[in-house]
Amino acid sequence: MPSRRANFRIFPHDWHSTAYVSEWIARDVTRDDERRPEIQRMLAAAPFARDLPIYVLDVGAGYGVVTEEVFKAAPKAHVVLQDYSQTMLDRARERLRRRGKHLRTVLCDLTDPSWTKKVGGPFDLAVSAIALHNLGDRTKIFSCYRAIYSLLKPGGYFLDYDRFPGGVARHLAALRDAGFTRAECISENPSIAVLVAGPKTADPLPAAKAKLTARVDSPPAHRNSPIRKPSLRS
Ligand SMILES: C[S@@+](CC[C@H](N)C(=O)[O-])C[C@H]1O[C@@H](n2cnc3c(N)ncnc32)[C@H](O)[C@@H]1O
Repeated sequence: MPSRRANFRIFPHDWHSTAYVSEWIARDVTRDDERRPEIQRMLAAAPFARDLPIYVLDVGAGYGVVTEEVFKAAPKAHVVLQDYSQTMLDRARERLRRRGKHLRTVLCDLTDPSWTKKVGGPFDLAVSAIALHNLGDRTKIFSCYRAIYSLLKPGGYFLDYDRFPGGVARHLAALRDAGFTRAECISENPSIAVLVAGPKTADPLPAAKAKLTARVDSPPAHRNSPIRKPSLRS
């Protein structure tokens, strides 16, 4: 008789089902060797010093894989994990329990415009992995990019490891339209890519904006912001 795992169907996802989420996680952890190095490379693209207490938002955080890597790269970070699956957030809390006060989980739906108020902010960094494509259509995803932009501090970055329906180029353009000074793809294979968007600027003069666009590795220093070089490398 075939095992339950062999019968497990990935699509359609049922993120609100405890049984489905448990099976999905059991399957997902077997991809750690492939996924974690990509996430680590993605985080290394953020220009924050390791010892700074940066504020991070993990969008569609699931059971906390990206947040776990954020803490390895920036142990003093404060992270808000956002998701609309209570089971996922419970699993994240369990997994990251020793992080105590450095962690907050927020249950809300990215398609509900009030989600930005629920997560708080502003943040130095927003991260996301294999989450936003779940929204199903580009209009919803692009609206989410604008929402994420609004949640960042000046100088903030957004890093996204995901599938990009319609192609990476459209998503890079949408990120620029959302207001990011610069958006680039730092890794791509047929199904998945890593996009880096930032820095967010307050209201740059055209000349300053041109300079920032030319030098993504030199983000502007911002008073009251912990943004510094070098990047988040563990
Ligand atoms: C494939 S999992 C990825 C989880 C985690 N980021 C990771 O890399 O392991 C996708 C996550 O997106 C969440 N999600 C999907 N649609 C959502 C929505 N409309 N609002 C909030 N979260 C959503 C799901 O609950 C799920 O936890």
